Amino acid sequence: MLTVAVLISGTGSNLRALLDAADDPDYPARVVVVGADRQADGLEHAEAYGIPAFTVPYSAYASREDWGAELDAQLRVWNPDLIVLSGLMRLLPAAVVDAWAPRVINTHPAFLPEFPGAHGVRDALAAGAPQTGASVIVVDNGVDSGPILAQERVPVLPDDDEHTLHERIKPVERRLLIDVVRRVATGELDLAAASTPASHTP
Ligand code: GAR
Repeated sequence: MLTVAVLISGTGSNLRALLDAADDPDYPARVVVVGADRQADGLEHAEAYGIPAFTVPYSAYASREDWGAELDAQLRVWNPDLIVLSGLMRLLPAAVVDAWAPRVINTHPAFLPEFPGAHGVRDALAAGAPQTGASVIVVDNGVDSGPILAQERVPVLPDDDEHTLHERIKPVERRLLIDVVRRVATGELDLAAASTPASHTP
């Protein structure tokens, strides 16, 4: 059984979907802990499922590195097989990424490498893109620049605003995330191999 830590900042709808999926005895992964960088609304999902939760408030630390060191210490208590950034709106310090790589994955509401960063949905709308999407990637030390594990297109509709478009992207993200975690758990998807540049034999 693959053990998963989920890190959030917001409402945690993707977390909730993963908790629902993991409620099925046939699903090969379990969320063992939920962490947040603030008093995120999504922590209530952990409570509803009886999953331990912790908060490492970003604002309480002098630097991103200090915050990351405490986050890392909390994660080490649970020693999960996989860390899912599910709407964590902070960049992890390099020391944390390096300590856990390649076992940190991130969901993103755009078809990467298009529209990386904190405002993927807003940026797609501002660019007038006819379509955007959802992606699940391995986290590296760039901004949404790691290897892509799964992604799917979502059309932008003429009347879309940031909220309506994001709400149409999120169900796609959930489906991709649940499937990626399942494939990591069964060994069908090897994160180390996915993170290694393909070797070319002459
Ligand atoms: C999700 O769409 C996630 O991809 C996005 O925040 C949302 C969180 O929703 N993350 C990013 O934009 C990270 N760059 P949720 O809290 O309802 O799961």
